[in-house]
Amino acid sequence: MNILLSGGAGFIGSNLVMYLLKKYPDIRILNLDKLTYAGNLENLESVNNHPRYHFERGDICDRRLVEQLLGKHSIDAIINVAAETHVDRSIVGSAEFIQTNIVGTHVLLELAREKNIAKFVQISTDEVYGSLGPTGKFTEETPIHPNSPYAASKASADNFVLAYHHTYGLPAVITRCSNNYGPFQFPEKLIPLMIANALNGKPLPVYGDGMNVRDWLHVADHCSAIDAVVRRGRVGEVYNIGGNNEKPNLELIKLLLKLLGKSESLITFVKDRPGHDRRYAIDSSKIQRELGWTPSFTFEQGMKETVEWYVQNRKWWERIISGQYKEYYASMYAGR
Ligand code: NAD
Ligand code: DAU
Repeated sequence: MNILLSGGAGFIGSNLVMYLLKKYPDIRILNLDKLTYAGNLENLESVNNHPRYHFERGDICDRRLVEQLLGKHSIDAIINVAAETHVDRSIVGSAEFIQTNIVGTHVLLELAREKNIAKFVQISTDEVYGSLGPTGKFTEETPIHPNSPYAASKASADNFVLAYHHTYGLPAVITRCSNNYGPFQFPEKLIPLMIANALNGKPLPVYGDGMNVRDWLHVADHCSAIDAVVRRGRVGEVYNIGGNNEKPNLELIKLLLKLLGKSESLITFVKDRPGHDRRYAIDSSKIQRELGWTPSFTFEQGMKETVEWYVQNRKWWERIISGQYKEYYASMYAGR
């Protein structure tokens, strides 16, 4: 199988490239990544010289490039992981989100149709469903109700994917996953940001009252779920993926501090994120029932290993936070 995997230099993409190359002796992966601020080829050092892996720097919105690559690499399947992914950045400005997440997905869909691609897997998010009250979970039947510009761009892309299946019979599937954690996550997202700040003795900025709930899934379990959907997912369907680990942010941050042996006095409450979704929870019984997928990490084991990874790979995240990201951090948290 020859796969075009977009966004393979990011957090989930790089974990997925390594997961698939390790698992399948016959798979070939073409990683198409624009290398935005979130793309980092250091994540892929272990597979750089792998004979069945090829990296191409480029934009999924570049129709000519993608068309040429699909032919040159005899691509059978597309996994669209590439996206602008950070909610806070989408609140500051959403033009890039519309461009990559909607226009880029549309370019891939058009070419997948023209080139008769055998499977198109769109990596989406539980955020398209909006926010939950204190009870209940998102199922695949929950109406989409995106609240942030990021979520709106992902929901729009999902609508195009389903429309291309319905109208043209494109063999497309969508996955909607909850919050991921694990190695190589860019340190603007909650867990790596809090670990890095705690290790540097800096305040941990908790938005609002810290009682917003997220459902945490180890990235390796997300990768095995995507793999199951690529292989056996029914076209035209949506599959929810979740870890059944709902935690209020404050509880999670206190656990991180405990694992790091740091004081809770570092916790600092800051102004809330505008339009902050209160609670996400995923019902993933469909993928479990239909495709036999189950998560392998317990929350406790996954968090312990993740904290250890960031402690042991300090150079990896220090290089990131000492560069361009410093300016982002200063502007995002100034006066908050
Ligand atoms: P990330 O921000 O870490 O990585 C995104 C990657 O996409 C980067 O390597 C970036 O360079 C690349 N990219 C961005 N624009 C591009 C373009 N126009 N052309 C080619 N490459 C481009 O993201 P992530 O957290 O790994 O998320 C990956 C996917 O999973 C996204 O589609 C996201 O919506 C979805 N998702 C993420 C989570 C999560 O918790 N991180 C949960 C559910 C779904
Ligand atoms: O649910 C899936 C989504 O999870 C993905 O689609 C997104 O790409 C991914 O970024 C993530 O979105 P969130 O907004 O949930 O993740 P983030 O890490 O930004 O924030 C997690 C929670 O922590 C959220 O309630 C906001 C809060 N938070 C975040 C940051 C960065 C803080 O309290 N302080 C912070 O500094």
